Amino acid sequence: MSNSAQIGVTGLAVMGRNLARNFARNGYTVALHNRTAARTHALVEEFGHEGDFVATETAKEFVEALERPRRLMIMVKAGEPTDAVIQEFAPLLEPGDMIIDGGNAHFEDTRRRERDLRGQGIHFVGTGVSGGEEGALNGPSIMPGGSKESYASLGPMLEKISAKAPDGSPCVTHCGPDGAGHFVKMVHNGIEYADMQLIGEAYQLLRDVAGYSPAQIADIFRTWNTGRLDSYLIEITAEVLSHVDAATGKPFVDVVQDRAEQKGTGRWTVQIALDLGVPVSGIAEAVFARSLSGHADLRAASRELAGPKAKPLGESEAGAFADRVEQALYASKIVSYTQGFHEISAGSDQYDWDIDLGAISAIWRGGCIIRAAFLDRIRAAYDARPDLPSLLSDETFAQEIAAAQDDWREVLVAATRQGVPAPGFSAALAYYDALRADRLPAALTQGQRDFFGAHTYRRVDREGSFHTLWGGDRSEVEA
Ligand code: 6PG
Repeated sequence: MSNSAQIGVTGLAVMGRNLARNFARNGYTVALHNRTAARTHALVEEFGHEGDFVATETAKEFVEALERPRRLMIMVKAGEPTDAVIQEFAPLLEPGDMIIDGGNAHFEDTRRRERDLRGQGIHFVGTGVSGGEEGALNGPSIMPGGSKESYASLGPMLEKISAKAPDGSPCVTHCGPDGAGHFVKMVHNGIEYADMQLIGEAYQLLRDVAGYSPAQIADIFRTWNTGRLDSYLIEITAEVLSHVDAATGKPFVDVVQDRAEQKGTGRWTVQIALDLGVPVSGIAEAVFARSLSGHADLRAASRELAGPKAKPLGESEAGAFADRVEQALYASKIVSYTQGFHEISAGSDQYDWDIDLGAISAIWRGGCIIRAAFLDRIRAAYDARPDLPSLLSDETFAQEIAAAQDDWREVLVAATRQGVPAPGFSAALAYYDALRADRLPAALTQGQRDFFGAHTYRRVDREGSFHTLWGGDRSEVEA
């Protein structure tokens, strides 16, 4: 049957395959294409009963199977493989057709591709998709960029296959033009890194300072998951911590090498934040913590360095300490999201995307890796005040941090005394204290810069730029 498929998916590795099945299960006819046709046929053989698939073998057949305007989704590796697929298909398309890139592409690549294809009248829709394999099949959170026109055609389909938030609304929104969708997905992943790091620190403190076993910590996380920390990452943490290795009978977490890997989206979040001048210290510490964990030789060479070894608290004090850790985790989490949303807002200003921060928090409430009850409150904060200078300016979050801060500080005192690293908690608190400080040592930095490089400074009491003649009579001149 030609021209009958409403959408085509090329690249049928696990994410592409599951998205194709998700479209088919929702009643769409899906054209399938893969570099090796065996994978296409295997999909139809195994899952053909789930809906209407059109298996194709060549690029031409694939394009011909699509209704016009064509919607062609590419689910291949980011970088060169994506460019290669675009080069293969773009010449076969016509003005008005859409290429949707659902991979974890760098938003700058997406901007370039969108610009290049726009010249041919083809809409390029860089789309963040979060939720892993399971989400792709049963409902991911979807973050499309690209033109408004493409969203008008594609949006209803994405809404259908997306996750639904607890209030039933679809977890998809048009994030903004060109690379906005992939930018939002990048920051989502940066926040994901920060969330994971903070949870890791909470675990380490509960283990080394409070003296709990992984199974006991799993129970603590389960309890936390019924409160304000209710989230997918807390839920799966409890699962991972309660898992026992079948081969050794030890807690699973004790038989896994403590070297965290990364594919790079968290690193991009920090790189771009540096370019935009946005302090995302919590996300940066999460990226650095993964890098540090991977330096096995450096760690081996440093193990004998002086410092305290943690002495677990007695049972009577452990419970109260766990409550404090919950406060520290929650407060630090608010800071990570504050920093992540600041980056989205700065990106939006820089590239003229007009991103609606309330809408972004709304589509992260379901389907994605950072889904959490808490996002509903972020949405409410931005809906009430779209120009909120920062999440910390929201009265409810500010009150919660005010209530948490004593415990947050106490947890960091205990961590420091006992020699347990907590870079995420600590960076978050330093950010909070820096923001609320009356005066920062930046004044001294300016003085030093002026001393060694005549870089000038501004005064608190007069307009203008000034320089002190440090090598001379130390009089001040207007610069
Ligand atoms: C998601 C995930 C997904 C993937 C990350 C993991 O939103 O579904 O973020 O994109 O799991 O690429 O990233 P690292 O390998 O860098 O931890």
